[in-house]
Amino acid sequence: EKGTYPHYMLKEIDEQPLVLRKIIQKYQDENGALTIDENILTAMDEADRIYIIAAGTSYHAGLVGKQYIEKMANVPVEVHISSEFVYNTPLLSSKPLFIFISQSGETADSRAVLVSIKEMGYEALTITNVPGSTLSREADYTLLLHAGPEIAVASTKAYTAQIAVLAILAEVTAKAKGMNLDFNLVQELGIVANAMEVLCGSKEEYEEISRSFLSTTRNAFFIGRGMDYYVGLEGALKLKEISYIQAEGFAGGELKHGTIALIEEGTPIIALATQESVNLSIRGNVKEVVARGANPCIISMKGLQQEEDTFTTPEVHELLTPLVSVIPLQLISYYAALHRDCDVDKPRNLAKSVTVE
Ligand code: M6R
Repeated sequence: EKGTYPHYMLKEIDEQPLVLRKIIQKYQDENGALTIDENILTAMDEADRIYIIAAGTSYHAGLVGKQYIEKMANVPVEVHISSEFVYNTPLLSSKPLFIFISQSGETADSRAVLVSIKEMGYEALTITNVPGSTLSREADYTLLLHAGPEIAVASTKAYTAQIAVLAILAEVTAKAKGMNLDFNLVQELGIVANAMEVLCGSKEEYEEISRSFLSTTRNAFFIGRGMDYYVGLEGALKLKEISYIQAEGFAGGELKHGTIALIEEGTPIIALATQESVNLSIRGNVKEVVARGANPCIISMKGLQQEEDTFTTPEVHELLTPLVSVIPLQLISYYAALHRDCDVDKPRNLAKSVTVE
């Protein structure tokens, strides 16, 4: 039930801090340490390479998850779009483990990959929001998102839940391998939940940003580097699917290799600056587009902000920034769709779960 909310999407965005706290709790043992099923840990430990398979928003969460598993647990990860993997299977390592990420657990493209890798004799773990879903039943192992039903076609709380569960999986795998991380994930996720709450309280600001940057535009570009690039891909998907504004996400460094040709007077560029290591270079990219007339909306993180920034998020651990920087993007898209009188929860041509290949 959406209660007093005008749309499920808005309700589901607002639920994110609560969902994150629930996930932390669900994955804690009685001593407060993060824990997952031993069999999953054994499969993670034995794998020489992990293949993440997903579509849409879940694919974008997978891109972030790759960073976690590689950086925390030191296992190489490839992330594949499920519909591509089926027909264009890459060379597999000798001991692969497949991780399927799917909010619904019913996406046909992902299921086709699951069926084919099971035929090849490989093991699969499904990360899903729906217990008993097809992808959960047909995989060897399941990790649940605990996000509660997601009704709006545009995925929001499932994205942040997927990223949180992937972070937990990476942390527990690292610990099981005897590796020491230099931060406490439970504590850092708690900081993220508080930051999410602050961000969900700034609705007027997003409405205003949306009005000034997106009300009349035909297109919009999202740029970032590293993690910010992945969040930009998700921001662009959100905006296009519900507001029908043509939106694309790019790696900041790729602009000059083609996309910059599209910049005209007033073209909105939404730039993310939450990563210290690339803060200067992304700001260099913003200067390049501003010199060609772009209208820059810079979303930075506290500690890295500069005077020209449009919005600044609270500070969180640098690996966890996607969990906070996506919230302004979700809400800016929501207001853009509202301002254009679009059907926010049921955008045209789309279904909540895509059960055909
Ligand atoms: O249920 P799934 O996570 O497998 O769905 C995958 C995509 O269809 C889904 O994320 C889609 O891209 C959303 N509409 C994005 O908001």
